[in-house]
Amino acid sequence: MELRALLLLTLLGLLFVEPGFGQRVDMDISEWLSDKIELIKNLEDKLKQLETRQNDSEALEAKLNATVDEVTRQKAEVDGLRKENEGLQTRLNATEMEIDKLKQSGAKSAPQIAFSASLANFGEIYRGPCTDKTLIFKRVFSNTGSGYDPDTGIFTAPVNGLYFLSFSTYGYNTHVMGAILMKNGVGQISTYDNPSVDSSDSSSNAVVLQLAAGDKVYMELWDNGRVFDNLNGHTTFSGFLVFPV
Ligand SMILES: *[C@@H]1O[C@H](CO)[C@@H](O)[C@H](O)[C@H]1NC(C)=O
Ligand SMILES: *[C@@H]1O[C@H](CO)[C@@H](O)[C@H](O)[C@H]1NC(C)=O
Ligand SMILES: *[C@@H]1O[C@H](CO)[C@@H](O)[C@H](O)[C@H]1NC(C)=O
Repeated sequence: MELRALLLLTLLGLLFVEPGFGQRVDMDISEWLSDKIELIKNLEDKLKQLETRQNDSEALEAKLNATVDEVTRQKAEVDGLRKENEGLQTRLNATEMEIDKLKQSGAKSAPQIAFSASLANFGEIYRGPCTDKTLIFKRVFSNTGSGYDPDTGIFTAPVNGLYFLSFSTYGYNTHVMGAILMKNGVGQISTYDNPSVDSSDSSSNAVVLQLAAGDKVYMELWDNGRVFDNLNGHTTFSGFLVFPV
């Protein structure tokens, strides 16, 4: 081993420069040498121990480095997941807000409006000919939203929207049988049957009208017209909001 040779040379050097060497011929040289060799052996052992320790500490450092790398990798992964989670949370919040908005606008934009009535709420009614030609439907089946007034026969639109309106009229052959659906005083659609040989007439019609809030729709008799009703509900007027606009 190089180290050993180096130490040996150093010792030999010491040997020859040591003062008074020539005078100590009586000294037991072999004993002296074996002392030095023992010393060198000890030094070598120490050196090996040191090397082992350094190797151990290097191995430890490598392990530590690996652990640090793993922790760094995991931290990056956690950061990524956190970011992803935040993104999802943002989207969830936006979706929840959208749902709330839809709920509110849905409740606002779809008021419940519907009515249905027939002319007679008891006995038998012949209506017309008369000057006040508005038909007042007294037997109210439904009036959600209170748009229909059973005292006047007028439906007043509570909100702007498209409304489905239908009616039927019934009568006998002595007069013109039928009626006109009026919107704010203007006729829209009608039923009509001239006096004729058949004894009774029945007719119906329907329309989808765009009404502004406050618009009034009602049924009017023709001039010299007459309709009939009893609890069989022959002459009727109905309507409902299809959707607001
Ligand atoms: C220390 O490590 C080196 C290089 O891996 C090796 O050559 C040497 O034998 C090791 N020493 C000890 C004492 O384990
Ligand atoms: C440990 O990491 C440090 C810094 O990155 C580096 O200088 C060193 O060489 C590494 N040690 C081992 C044993 O990989
Ligand atoms: C989502 O909403 C919750 C509750 O309103 C709030 O605490 C949180 O900060 C919001 N998150 C995001 C990312 O907007």
